[in-house]
Amino acid sequence: MARIVGAITTSHVPAIGGAIARGLQQEPYWKPFFDGFQAVHRWLQKIRPDVVVVFYNDHGLNFFLDKMPTFAVGAADDYRYADEGWGIPAMFPAFPGQVQLSWHLIESLVRDEFDVTTCQEMLVDHAFAVPMALLWPAAATWPVKTVPIAINTVQHPLPSAARCFKLGQAVGRAIDTFPEDLKVVVVGSGGLSHQLEGPRAGFINKEFDLMCMEKLVGDPVALTRYSNVQLVDLAGSQGVEILMWLAARGALTGDVSSVHSNYHIPISNTASGLMVMENHSVLARGRLDAVLEASDGRPGHR
Ligand code: DHB
Ligand code: FE
Repeated sequence: MARIVGAITTSHVPAIGGAIARGLQQEPYWKPFFDGFQAVHRWLQKIRPDVVVVFYNDHGLNFFLDKMPTFAVGAADDYRYADEGWGIPAMFPAFPGQVQLSWHLIESLVRDEFDVTTCQEMLVDHAFAVPMALLWPAAATWPVKTVPIAINTVQHPLPSAARCFKLGQAVGRAIDTFPEDLKVVVVGSGGLSHQLEGPRAGFINKEFDLMCMEKLVGDPVALTRYSNVQLVDLAGSQGVEILMWLAARGALTGDVSSVHSNYHIPISNTASGLMVMENHSVLARGRLDAVLEASDGRPGHR
C-alpha cells in the first residue's frame, strides 16, 4: 500500500527561481533562506519518496478568470512549467506525472463528494515549480513523480480553510488506499503572510505566521476556524495561500511531528516559511521507522 511519510510546506516566491538561475544562494540576502533547505535535503535523502502530491495555487497561468476551478487535480503524463512573465528562465525539465495515483485520487475524492476538475493537460506555474527546485536543487531529472492539486486563491469566493483541510483529509484517505507500494510526501506551497498590491503592499505579520506554524503541527483544526476575510486581514491578500498548508497538513493521517522549520523575513514581499512534518501511521505505528531503516544506506534504492 502507499504510505504518506510526511509533509513539506514552503513559500513559493518567483524571485527564488531567479536567484537559483543566477546562482545567488550564498549571497547575504539569500543565504538564510536557502540554508533552511539543507535539513530538508537530508530528510529527503533519508526518506527517498517515490511521489509528491503538491497542493499549490495557480496564479493565472493554467486557469484564468474566465474559467476558475475551485479544486483541480492533474492527471497528465507530465506537467510543463511555462513562462508567466516573472523572468524565471524556463529552466525546469517537465515534471513527470503519476497518472494511476492521479485517477485513484480523483475517483476517491469524487466518491467523497469533492467534485474536482480533472486535468489531463496542465501547465504549472512558479507555485509548483519553485518548491520542486528548492527540494531537489541538483536534479538534472526529477527523482520523484508528481500529482499537482490546484486550489483557487485568485477568483473569490475561495474555498474556506475548513474545506481545504477536509480536501487534504480526503486526499490522505485516498493515498492510504492506493494499492501500489509507494512512499508519498505531500507538499503545501504558498504563504506565509504577504500582500503584493494596494496600500498594504509589503504587509507581513510575523506573530500570526509563527502562531500558524506552531498550530499546524499540533492543532491544525484551530486554523480552520479562520474565515478567508480574517485570513486576508491577518496575513495579507496573498497570505491566504496558507490554505495550501492546511490542505497538506490535512493529508497527514497519523501522529504528526515537526522535524524541521525555518522562518525568514522577507523574501521579496513575503514572509517565507518552511516546515517538514513526519506522519507516523496510527494504524501501523512504527511503519515509518521501518521504512527509514530499510532505505538508510541504500543509495539509488529507488
Ligand atoms: C510574491 C509572492 C507570491 O506568493 C507570488 O505568488 C508572487 C510574488 C512576492 O513576494 O514577490
Ligand atoms: Fe503566490
